[in-house]
Amino acid sequence: MSPTDRAPGGLMREPDPTGRFGDFGGRYVPESLVAACMELEQEFRVAWADPAFHAEFEHILSSYGGRPTPVTECARLSEQLGVRVLLKREDLAHTGSHKLNNVIGQTLLTRRMGKGRVLAETGAGQHGVATATAAALFGLECLVFMGEVDVERQALNVFRMRLLGAEVRTVTSGSRTLKDAVNEALREWVACVETTHYCLGSVMGPHPYPWMVRELQRIVGDEARDQCRQILGGADPDYVVACVGGGSNAAGTFAGFVDTPARLVGVEAAGGAAIGHGVPGVVHGMKSFFLQDEAGQILEAHSISAGLDYPGIGPEHAQLAAAGRAEYPQVGDAEVLEAFQLLSRTEGIIPAFESAHALAWVVREARWAIPAGATVMITLSGRGDKDAAQAMEHLG
Ligand SMILES: Cc1ncc(COP(=O)(O)O)c(C=O)c1O
Repeated sequence: MSPTDRAPGGLMREPDPTGRFGDFGGRYVPESLVAACMELEQEFRVAWADPAFHAEFEHILSSYGGRPTPVTECARLSEQLGVRVLLKREDLAHTGSHKLNNVIGQTLLTRRMGKGRVLAETGAGQHGVATATAAALFGLECLVFMGEVDVERQALNVFRMRLLGAEVRTVTSGSRTLKDAVNEALREWVACVETTHYCLGSVMGPHPYPWMVRELQRIVGDEARDQCRQILGGADPDYVVACVGGGSNAAGTFAGFVDTPARLVGVEAAGGAAIGHGVPGVVHGMKSFFLQDEAGQILEAHSISAGLDYPGIGPEHAQLAAAGRAEYPQVGDAEVLEAFQLLSRTEGIIPAFESAHALAWVVREARWAIPAGATVMITLSGRGDKDAAQAMEHLG
């Protein structure tokens, strides 16, 4: 049985042959990219069924990437909140976030397809850094698109990418954030599809990306489920919580728990809440929820965290929300900054602004909605070093 088939009930399995998760997903791309998407789907399907591919993927992630990442029980924070908090520590993965899992898988596929170059888009810079890292490891050329606003607020990550040998191209169109970087990356891919793999950073875009990236990230959820059962005497957590930008750390986490009784919670940034405030539409090669005006124009998302500053969400999350299997609440920047400081002071862990969204929801809900003593597992998707300069501006 392949890992994809594990979850009963039809959710978080393979999408239908057209790449749809229920009403969402699909492959809405120019003709010139259809063949590349089909080649990638075929390559992934064969690789994912091949034990040798899994062995190499897992070997690199353990010998180079720092896996398995631990689950940390937060005694002081738990006492303060009145709920038992466990953190899945993707901040301890090499390059500082969960993004490396996806990128190692995709660069292995790049090599199998005989392509010598990768391109990527990035918001917070973590996916760009992970891609530049894997490109250096495999000797691939690397080009990363990043919005001008994100280049400014994530200057440290821009430097890291260049140090790793990648070219970083600044995008000055539109809102100059992640959505515009995706546009440019797709445009560039059309021009060089024969030689270049588009290493997409989240569970979004045309089929097979949402499915493939979820599968490459399910290592987070699978590890976390086993680790939580060890800590909780065989039980699963009552709540499983992760932040949602495109939705890759949440999808990987949820994949490990979808067949358990855990409540699945994907936390959106209030200013980028595609499920909270969006409507169905087709953008960036997929049908999903997007922030749009009455004329169907995409609205700009705003969040303190560059990684959640995206006006859409991966199509599988749209399906999970429609099916009522996962819920997608929102938190605002002020709560995020509070949670950022709280975890730093109570546990000695400085979270990424993105991850602090998941924590902020738990802090808020523990006051009234989460029953006292409930167990809450939060995926800490990344570490806060990249956000330190911006936090200094806000906190003085
Ligand atoms: C640390 C971290 N967490 C979360 C995200 C959001 O992405 P996703 O929703 O795909 O996990 C990002 C994106 O850059 C990130 O850097």
